[in-house]
Amino acid sequence: MKIAVLGTGMVGRTIATKLVELGHDVSMGSRTAESGALTEWVGEVGGRAIGGTFADAAAASELVFNCTAGSASLRALEAAGAESLAGKVLIDVANPLDFSQGMPPLLTVCNDESLGEQIQAAFPEARVVKSLNTVNHLVMTDPGRVPGDHHVFVCGNDERAKSEAASLLEEFGWPPDSIVDLGDISAARGAEMYLPLWLRLYGAFGTGDLNIEVRRA
Ligand SMILES: NC(=O)c1ccc[n+]([C@@H]2O[C@H](COP(=O)([O-])OP(=O)(O)OC[C@H]3O[C@@H](n4cnc5c(N)ncnc54)[C@H](OP(=O)(O)O)[C@@H]3O)[C@@H](O)[C@H]2O)c1
Repeated sequence: MKIAVLGTGMVGRTIATKLVELGHDVSMGSRTAESGALTEWVGEVGGRAIGGTFADAAAASELVFNCTAGSASLRALEAAGAESLAGKVLIDVANPLDFSQGMPPLLTVCNDESLGEQIQAAFPEARVVKSLNTVNHLVMTDPGRVPGDHHVFVCGNDERAKSEAASLLEEFGWPPDSIVDLGDISAARGAEMYLPLWLRLYGAFGTGDLNIEVRRA
């Protein structure tokens, strides 16, 4: 599948590398085609992927991952271009974190809205699925780093988009019964508001190789 990964940080590079390993045609997007992180990653995967601007990457794809800084995601997706996102599954991995007042970060949006909803509202023709934002970048594509059963979430307004996203998660190694559908895109509120707790768990255990298992009767 032709997949755009918008974002050159740890998350974008980890997801893009996994997608290349899985045999997908990956285009990584950045603010500029000359970005050091971008050209370095393209070199690392031995030319098995391409890099360009957010617009170049999105235009070359059938499915898009948003792995940009949450505070800048709307701008990055605007640069990608609404027409290049229309009709495509857009897996939103970003967290709306505001580091401007130091640590721990605040959320730029919460309670009655979420970044996932803002993205869906700004790009109504994209099929937004919020997922993977509740785990560390290494766990995203290698859930076996955390022993035992644990869960990952999907939410979005388009049922088929969620099942396409879930198929990719399965390719990443998430067992089908570990993928919990939380409902429509407004469920992104809870998934994003989990971040303050995730950060505390990281502080308590000193590792990002952690996740939650939802047990029920
Ligand atoms: N780190 C994790 O383990 C983890 C886990 C779950 C979710 N997340 C979320 O995943 C996303 C990516 O995280 P990350 O740590 O890999 O990278 P990041 O540093 O949060 O974001 C890097 C990307 O954001 C773009 N960006 C930054 N400022 C921008 C602006 N003003 N306009 C447009 N684009 C801008 C950068 O563009 P350039 O390429 O041009 O520099 C780069 O591609 C974040 O939303 C984060 O909260 C991270």
